[in-house]
Amino acid sequence: MAEELSLTLAKSFFIRTFGCQMNAHDSSTLAGLLTAAGHRQVGSAEEADIILLNTCTVRDKADQKVYSQLGRYRLLKLERPEMIIGVGGCMAQGEGRRVLSRAPFVDLVFGTQTLHRVAEMIDQMEQGRRKMVWIEMDQPPEALDEFYANSRAEGHKAFITVMQGCENHCAYCIVPTVRGREGSRPADEIVAEAERLAAQGVVEVTLLGQNVNSYGLKGSTSGLKASTGVNFPELVRRVAKVEGVERLRFTTSHPKDLSDELIALFAQEPKLMTHIHLPLQAGSDRILKLMNRRYTFGHYLGLVEKLRAAVPGIALSSDMIVGFPGETEEDFEGTLEAMRKVEYDFLFSFKYSPRRGTPAAEMEGQLPDKVKEERLARLQELQKVHTLKLNRAQIGSVRAVMVDGRSRSGGGQLMGRTPENKIVNFTGPAELVTKTVEVEIIDAYINSMTGRLVQ
Ligand code: 5AD
Ligand code: SF4
Repeated sequence: MAEELSLTLAKSFFIRTFGCQMNAHDSSTLAGLLTAAGHRQVGSAEEADIILLNTCTVRDKADQKVYSQLGRYRLLKLERPEMIIGVGGCMAQGEGRRVLSRAPFVDLVFGTQTLHRVAEMIDQMEQGRRKMVWIEMDQPPEALDEFYANSRAEGHKAFITVMQGCENHCAYCIVPTVRGREGSRPADEIVAEAERLAAQGVVEVTLLGQNVNSYGLKGSTSGLKASTGVNFPELVRRVAKVEGVERLRFTTSHPKDLSDELIALFAQEPKLMTHIHLPLQAGSDRILKLMNRRYTFGHYLGLVEKLRAAVPGIALSSDMIVGFPGETEEDFEGTLEAMRKVEYDFLFSFKYSPRRGTPAAEMEGQLPDKVKEERLARLQELQKVHTLKLNRAQIGSVRAVMVDGRSRSGGGQLMGRTPENKIVNFTGPAELVTKTVEVEIIDAYINSMTGRLVQ
């Protein structure tokens, strides 16, 4: 009888994700939770009883993308009015009820800290409730720990959220507003999650947090002081001990908190892959100060030198914002000069986008889009030169490549990644997928390299 009941209530759901890796991981975990509640995940909105959008709001463009996608789902709902449409995550957290006034056909609005309540919201809809907005940010701390207990492996790679929120308050950034206070998950739970994932065949783990360097420093999600005293390097060492985990990565690191202990770990811990994403944001000290980043370019360059001394050839990537309020041509030249000094392997670059309620949105000297556009193009041209140069420097070397699957370039080729996270395409048998093999790099381009399997 109970089984029959749960079958009648079971629904098919589709999740569309916008934004960062953390969001992608939250969506995957939400899917795990809904599956555990008896619902069934499907691959397209057309087949679904429930469509959930897990949104991003870091730039205005992200908000616009959500609303235009919602416009398309409205048409599906016109055909099938019983369908449930839910909007959650960062944009929903920031917009709250405004989502319902801009898109009245939406049924559910959930936030960044109420993801664990989506199954319950769906049940309430079933029982006849119309429209629900649950975006409280005062959930009991254990709630998110329980939520992440539903995390799943996506093939042989997995993400583990080690902390939530951000308290850095960079002047341009909406994240502290929509993701709330920082809290670290207990180290034991993270290690247990890594063990569970490894038992499912996961060989590469990426530890996720807005600012992993402050892991354990600002209180924990479970209310235990400083996550029982484990700092981030110690957490990395503990996860590295998990049998079956062959490769470890983490993101994101804030330059103001990158410790010598963590830098040294790149040389000491063989499972920790030799790539660090260390967002600089701007090369001018004046702009860095206005951004409230709390470091100078000189300090940053010092970190780069230490990293390269510890691990020659370590790959470096960064986020960069152009057109921050008041950015002069000279400030922008400072960013280009910083790029020339560091030479990044890859770079994510953005035009500054004013976000409601952030200090930068109120600053004088907001720049026209044309200026931002032009600076972004110049920055991206320079980055291409560096990426190509550093990829070509790999030609002739033999790298350990973890094989992810078939290459997108077709022709029966395999695609894998070096410890520096660079993509390599090469010919080899399908049995090599998930294995790490030696590949000699024979050619290199901007987005990938080609190689030859070393027998
Ligand atoms: N405008 C442009 N880029 C932004 N980022 C964060 N907020 C903004 C904004 N308002 C960028 C930063 C951050 C990355 C995730 O997004 O570079 O590191
Ligand atoms: Fe935003 Fe700065 Fe926090 Fe990153 S560290 S999420 S840029 S406030």
